[in-house]
Amino acid sequence: MDMLPELLGRRARRAISNEALDKAVIARLLEAATLAPSCFNNQPWRILAVERNQENPHYQSLAESLTPNNAWALEAPLLLVFATALHLDCRLDAGRDYAYFDLGQAAMALQLQAQREGLYAHPMAGFSPSKLKNALKMLPELVPLCVIAVGKPGDPEKLAEGPRKSEFSPRSRKAVSEIAFSGDFSTPWA
Ligand SMILES: Cc1cc2nc3c(=O)[nH]c(=O)nc-3n(C[C@H](O)[C@H](O)[C@H](O)COP(=O)(O)O)c2cc1C
Repeated sequence: MDMLPELLGRRARRAISNEALDKAVIARLLEAATLAPSCFNNQPWRILAVERNQENPHYQSLAESLTPNNAWALEAPLLLVFATALHLDCRLDAGRDYAYFDLGQAAMALQLQAQREGLYAHPMAGFSPSKLKNALKMLPELVPLCVIAVGKPGDPEKLAEGPRKSEFSPRSRKAVSEIAFSGDFSTPWA
């Protein structure tokens, strides 16, 4: 059976056009995130959508919270803050806290929908959580885990040299035999 084209085609691209996105598209992306599974159907994801607008103080604060290596994301017409808190989801024995796991599933669902829509969706951990939380009136208990920059494909030639190089780099992954096992965890899958 073939691999899902959205999985194969998705990359964390940085050459994002600053062209605005339709509200209906943004709504579909958010809807996709809500379709992710979660422990006990707790749906612990909280997502803040901030559209690019230099006049908007929320956009400015969010943009300023990004680390300098993520300056390429300032072109993106949409920044999505993905946040959660451990008490919003199952907290089971042996350290099995599911909020971060389920937030990740929602983020991936959104990224696959973005791929389907012909958009780039690039997740980032490179931001200052304290700056972001203060500026965006986030509840103190929420942890902002990821900002996803979303937009249509742009011109890679406009990127600074570092991101431009990464833009064309081949995908790098561990072999399945390194991360999968068979029978027990001492036997690599083959
Ligand atoms: C949680 C998370 C945080 C990331 N943070 C950043 C970031 O701050 N800046 C960046 O340019 N890329 C970031 N990335 C993108 C990864 O570098 C990228 O997904 C990885 O190199 C694999 O490449 P691919 O997504 O194109 O397959 C992040 C990805 C994830 C999932």
